[in-house]
Amino acid sequence: MSIVLSGIRPTGNLHLGNYFGALLNFVKLQERDSCFFFIADYHSLTTHTTPENLTNNVRRIMALYLAAGIHPEKSTLYIQSDVPEICELYLLFNMLAYVGELERTTTFKDKIRLQPGNINAGLLTYPVLMASDILIHRSHYVPVGKDQEQHLELARVYARRFNNTYRCEIFPEPEAFNFGANLVKVPGLDGTGKMGKSEGNGIYLTDTPDEIRKKVMKAVTDAGPTAPDQPPAEPIRNLFAIMELVSPPETLACFKEQYAQCTIRYGDLKKQLAEDINACVAPVRERFNDIIRNEALLKKTAATGREKARASASATLKEVRKAVGISEK
Ligand code: TYM
Repeated sequence: MSIVLSGIRPTGNLHLGNYFGALLNFVKLQERDSCFFFIADYHSLTTHTTPENLTNNVRRIMALYLAAGIHPEKSTLYIQSDVPEICELYLLFNMLAYVGELERTTTFKDKIRLQPGNINAGLLTYPVLMASDILIHRSHYVPVGKDQEQHLELARVYARRFNNTYRCEIFPEPEAFNFGANLVKVPGLDGTGKMGKSEGNGIYLTDTPDEIRKKVMKAVTDAGPTAPDQPPAEPIRNLFAIMELVSPPETLACFKEQYAQCTIRYGDLKKQLAEDINACVAPVRERFNDIIRNEALLKKTAATGREKARASASATLKEVRKAVGISEK
């Protein structure tokens, strides 16, 4: 059986990008593989937050995992900071991670641009912590969106480098995974780029029907096609891409045909899109609203996950320490 792992940073809410790029794959994978899913609370500290926000956001992501259909009996669902073994592996991998290769990662370069006043060492070594998350359970597959591809490449580098340096075969080389052929990049509603938390261009899983409608109606479009069979520009391609995820194929085909014939009315497209997004997120939103009030369930889920995750993590760490030459006490 393959081992699958993935994580989500606790930023309080999840958007359609998180859902279609990651979470939906998690739900399917738990039926066939040995799955570890977690809340990456350490990772979220690279952007400084308040303690109240962090605690609250972790609870909300735990509730969203459950609401989306992660089953704590089938999967191991835990909070990163509950598993101290990850930190020890992170320290050991840091000794094998070269500063040059970390400085060259796209996400690090992006962050430098976004938060020039807070370029901390945690940002630089973010991929090392991520590799530790993945390799602490010796995972084979990591369901993630397209934006995480480079991090997976580094996880493979550290797995290989560790095995070579210490002449062992402890770690597999993990691969990014999506049920479709390619990793997914869900676009935002602002006409360009991916849907993101900091971009403010997304639909959240807890948005009400009214909020969804307002956001979709405001989505960027253009002046419309001027001649038959023109390829649509990026903002329209993006709306079609979201429609492909949430609407029946006939609906998408119908609007694409109208576009090709220059008869499309963007208002109609948006109304339909808002309705289909709502139909897709409504069950998650409703379950979330119940689960978030169920403190006992959230606590129990975290405690069960912690125990299962630590059992797996400590078995790996025992072998790692031996390989490195740290003597057993
Ligand atoms: P995070 O919290 O930014 O995002 C969680 C997951 O959602 C995916 N995603 C998207 N997929 C498609 N289109 C989008 N617009 C979009 N936006 C986000 C992300 O690719 C991700 O799969 N570094 C990770 C968290 C992490 C992790 C790990 C993941 C920490 N350790 C170990 C896997 C394995 C992150 O920041 O994800």
